[in-house]
Amino acid sequence: MLSDSYGRVATDLRVSLTDRCNLRCTYCMPAEGLDWLPKPELLTDDELNRLIRVGVTMLGIEEVRFTGGEPLLRKGLPGILAATTALEPRPRTALTTNGIGLARIAPALAEAGLDRVNVSLDTLDPEVFERLSRRRRLPDVLAGLAGAAEAGLTPVKVNTVLMRGVNDTEAVDLLAYCLEHGYRLRFIEQMPLDAQHGWRRDDMITADEILDRLGAAYDLEPEDAQERGSAPAESFLVNGGPATVGVIGSVTRPFCGACDRVRLTADGQIRNCLFAREESDLRALLRAGADDAEIAGRWRAAVAGKLPGHGINDPSFLQPARPMSAIGG
Ligand code: GTP
Ligand code: 5AD
Ligand code: SF4
Repeated sequence: MLSDSYGRVATDLRVSLTDRCNLRCTYCMPAEGLDWLPKPELLTDDELNRLIRVGVTMLGIEEVRFTGGEPLLRKGLPGILAATTALEPRPRTALTTNGIGLARIAPALAEAGLDRVNVSLDTLDPEVFERLSRRRRLPDVLAGLAGAAEAGLTPVKVNTVLMRGVNDTEAVDLLAYCLEHGYRLRFIEQMPLDAQHGWRRDDMITADEILDRLGAAYDLEPEDAQERGSAPAESFLVNGGPATVGVIGSVTRPFCGACDRVRLTADGQIRNCLFAREESDLRALLRAGADDAEIAGRWRAAVAGKLPGHGINDPSFLQPARPMSAIGG
């Protein structure tokens, strides 16, 4: 088991497969991209499969989520999924993607054992999409969503980051679109995780503001809080249900006390939190020839030292050195 000193148990492993991406969202990275990790620093597919096996069979990991950067850029993804879902006990699997290329590959991913997907979609306006992600790819993302639903990768969830003066007038339209297509929409407060360190608290559209905007067009009623568990999203029934909308208030309504996550970066570091100040190097251990028990021991010790919260609201908060694309979303 992966327990920390605050009584939390990590059962949800988030594996970053690459720090690269084919979009350039302004809240994530600059137009020119970043200095990507050199290939020798990335875990190989075999190394990844081994660490996932240790997590699932020795440490109580129950769900494995693949993230990036953009995880669909990793050629070995279907093989990694197949190896993950062949484990006993079989973990649940999920993928967080920007949706580009998903339409084509969704059936193969479902075949390889992927259970469900979360897709980022911040706007329905092609011009705004280009301004926000610096690429003209909105049709690919919408096709990706439809393809995922068709392949049974459900529930298909949509992640939206609202930004003041960019896409914040679209909250109601986005919800209407997702309700119409049967996707489960969650609005996310923007967090200080961009490579440019340009985050400003005043620019962030807060959970309260999101709910005000949606409340103008829809009747929202909180779902039973008992059912939330460790989910980052607070869930609301829309017009009496059964459809719901989620709000992930990472900054103004932190949920760190119920956190059940641990992260593995594409270069083999264990990270307890998006905002952790320390990482634990499993890659070095693995490449030095350590056995599974040694790796499990290092991993347990890393999680034992997990801090109580992200600290964004502390006066002394410092943004992490690595941006979200390198940590894993
Ligand atoms: P499910 O609810 O299981 O579908 O997954 P998820 O919402 O955890 O995953 P997803 O990758 O779609 O993440 C959506 C958003 O949740 C991210 O953009 C973050 O804003 C937030 N989030 C994910 N992990 C963390 C975390 O460890 N800490 C905080 N504060 N927020 C997180
Ligand atoms: N704050 C909040 N969410 C972010 N994402 C990327 N960068 C940020 C940020 N700075 C979102 C993406 C994706 C999810 C994994 O994280 O839109 O949906
Ligand atoms: Fe790529 Fe996601 Fe960052 Fe956008 S937020 S640039 S899709 S990694």
